[in-house]
Amino acid sequence: MSHAAYDRRYWEDRYAGRGEGHGEGRHESGTAWAGETNPQLSIETADLVPGTALDAGCGTGTDALWLAGKGWHVTAVDIAENALETARARAEALGGPAADRVRWQREDLTTWDPPIGGHDLVYSHYVHTDAPYADLYRRLAAAVAPGGTLLVVGHHPHDRHGDAPHADHHDTHLTAQEVAELLDPRLWKVYTAEVRARTVTVHGGREVTLHDAVLRARRRG
Ligand SMILES: C[S@@+](CC[C@H](N)C(=O)[O-])C[C@H]1O[C@@H](n2cnc3c(N)ncnc32)[C@H](O)[C@@H]1O
Repeated sequence: MSHAAYDRRYWEDRYAGRGEGHGEGRHESGTAWAGETNPQLSIETADLVPGTALDAGCGTGTDALWLAGKGWHVTAVDIAENALETARARAEALGGPAADRVRWQREDLTTWDPPIGGHDLVYSHYVHTDAPYADLYRRLAAAVAPGGTLLVVGHHPHDRHGDAPHADHHDTHLTAQEVAELLDPRLWKVYTAEVRARTVTVHGGREVTLHDAVLRARRRG
């Protein structure tokens, strides 16, 4: 099955606890949905010097707040006001300088142009929009400052054949190579383009294997 629309209404409903994704699989451990930092983010940013970051499709803000805790100044955008409401409340509860380092912004990534060269890190994790991904990732890549990093994590097509909660969301899968091919090699050096398997526990205690497509590239300075 594929979904007709990953539009604003779909995501607002999902964050309001309505519609598809409300049951098993919604809060798999080891993911930002469950309030845990996505592991590919901590692995891939470990050697970066904090600067400005864009979290494109930030959801309820787990990864944006983690980046801010590491010293990044984060612009965190999402289409769903319901997600941002939760994110703002979490930031407020956290308090302190890290919370102040995140600016929450409602934007539709299918039409919004982030400032060209505006961020040292542009990050997008498990974002499936209502529009072709190539256009989105090209615009996100353009938002990376010279010397900065693009980090994209998606669901690898291997997940179509497993028991991942998103297995039947055929239009959301992509490989890191597909994203890498959008980048002009004269402007970009690709550091990571691979698939990584990891095990998470979904609601109800069942263990499932996810395959993350991980693309990390540096814009030549
Ligand atoms: C599967 S969630 C991932 C959230 C978070 N990055 C994570 O890793 O847990 C996808 C997110 O992308 C957001 N999103 C989907 N389409 C969008 C769009 N067109 N513009 C902005 N955000 C969008 C959704 O609202 C949702 O928060």
